[in-house]
Amino acid sequence: MSEAILEVNGLTKVFGTKKSQHKAVDNISFRLEQGECLGIIGESGSGKSTTAHMIAGLLKPCSGEIDYKGRYLQMIFQNPIRSFSPRMNILDSLCEGLLYQSDLPRKEIRKKALEAMDMVKLPRDYARRYRSQLSGGECQRAAIARALMIHPDLLICDEVTSALDVSIQAEIMQLLYRLKQSMGISLLFISHDIALVSGISDRVAVMHDGKIVETGDTMALIENPKQDYTKELIASVLPVYGEKEKIMER
Ligand SMILES: Nc1ncnc2c1ncn2[C@@H]1O[C@H](COP(=O)(O)OP(=O)(O)O)[C@@H](O)[C@H]1O
Ligand SMILES: [Mg+2]
Repeated sequence: MSEAILEVNGLTKVFGTKKSQHKAVDNISFRLEQGECLGIIGESGSGKSTTAHMIAGLLKPCSGEIDYKGRYLQMIFQNPIRSFSPRMNILDSLCEGLLYQSDLPRKEIRKKALEAMDMVKLPRDYARRYRSQLSGGECQRAAIARALMIHPDLLICDEVTSALDVSIQAEIMQLLYRLKQSMGISLLFISHDIALVSGISDRVAVMHDGKIVETGDTMALIENPKQDYTKELIASVLPVYGEKEKIMER
């Protein structure tokens, strides 16, 4: 077995008061291999974002362990516009983190920022633009460029294409795939859209009601799902793979 970059064991998050508790994430375990893309699929409210936030350290688990063996992880969100300050241009936004966290000279950091823009195919003359001057897709590229500034070994992508047009979605998916292939970045790719997830993921974990109900290699899982919930999820978007007849019967 290859080296895991992330191991999650018995992770649980309960929200609410003592009287009314809700297990948003219920005792989940999984591992992510170095350079692998693990997809997490599940309908809205199944606990995907809560899981992502705990791994990224934005939310404290109630119990369980997160063993992240890499150096830097970065999270990319659904709404890229909101993650940029309206008063800072793209170049400054990209440089901000390293300006505070490293001793690198300003000039060196700017050079890195322009290189990061090249990597996500954002024209360099966009550096002076503000977030309102970028389209949704361009803004998501900028968010990915900013994530690349610290040379992450793990990117957690939470519904990163959900706010984008379908044609732009495909471009962002290609970009992420390219980063995985050429830079060996590991990906945790989270989406409610099984078609998107299966396009990029080596393995998939299906979440339902806070639990992982099924895990497997992407193709095997799609062609031969074991759980009824997974079958329904597949049938709803990929009737050709799924159980078309059964749906018709219902
Ligand atoms: N901060 C919070 N406080 C209380 N409940 C929350 C909070 N965040 C999420 N939840 C609840 O936890 C469940 C899982 O949410 P979430 O992880 O956002 O699901 P997903 O990302 O799969 O749509 C939902 O029922 C949601 O309402
Ligand atoms: Mg979510």
